[in-house]
Amino acid sequence: MHLQAKRFYKLLNETYARAGTSEMRVSFDSVAQVYDKTRGPPGRIMKQLGDTLIGELQGHRMVLDVGVGTGRFAKPLQASGFEVVGVDISGKMLGKAVEKGVDNLFRGDACFLPFVDNSFDVAVCVHILHLICEWKTALQEICRVTRGIMVSTHYVCRDPLREAYTRLLKGYGYESRRLGKGEWELKDLVKPLKTVVVASYGASANRRLAFLGQRVYSSQWDIPEDVNRKVVNELKRRFAGKVFLQELQILIWDMKDLEALVSARNNLVQRRD
Ligand SMILES: C[S@@+](CC[C@H](N)C(=O)[O-])C[C@H]1O[C@@H](n2cnc3c(N)ncnc32)[C@H](O)[C@@H]1O
Repeated sequence: MHLQAKRFYKLLNETYARAGTSEMRVSFDSVAQVYDKTRGPPGRIMKQLGDTLIGELQGHRMVLDVGVGTGRFAKPLQASGFEVVGVDISGKMLGKAVEKGVDNLFRGDACFLPFVDNSFDVAVCVHILHLICEWKTALQEICRVTRGIMVSTHYVCRDPLREAYTRLLKGYGYESRRLGKGEWELKDLVKPLKTVVVASYGASANRRLAFLGQRVYSSQWDIPEDVNRKVVNELKRRFAGKVFLQELQILIWDMKDLEALVSARNNLVQRRD
């Protein structure tokens, strides 16, 4: 990807060259085309989320979006005047961000961020750490290049559909794929500086059932098609037409608190827990 236009941070060529590690990586290339349609809350709530995030980041300038994807967050932040840099391993997801006019995009690995220390005020980290076995290494890197805060999102209410999906899969001897720890789980390890409620809304089961049927979520990519079809048919029988209450929050951590969690001393041995 390109980025020569504005150089308001310094690149670390030597770590960038280390990207492309032999460790397992989850590519989103196959879903780049449908990603925006199949993820996140309804459009008006997504807009509210973007607006709330912009409000919360006032006073900061340089933002790193790790696992920037199609630029769902980078685009509105850039449009509001933040200097945004995005990193992602998927060329096709980055391609979608380029189509939207997002600048400063890098193809690279969250575990080897190509920036010098303390380059950014804010790291945006939404739904990426659960895709990375060495999530602590990724978080260490985010801590290294970010001096201020890290923000993520959190869906507060239980998700009966997801829970039933997982249970039914188990009955067939399969488990949803999850490699690392979700950012939303970090709140139980490190207390956020601030939690901001964005909105409460009704989430349609039909919409999710349709997407589960298409196997668009990364947790489903290892599940055989016929098993997925049987499970989703059962879910349709149980949940079709239902609406679940959901609450969406923004979580904000102080980098120093996260740093304590992943400091080299505490992590001489990398573990998946
Ligand atoms: C669920 S999507 C989230 C995208 C974006 N943060 C959003 O909320 O719309 C996860 C993204 O992380 C990227 N990704 C996965 N592993 C990565 C890694 N090790 N380094 C950088 N990006 C990675 C995927 O390619 C994908 O674009």
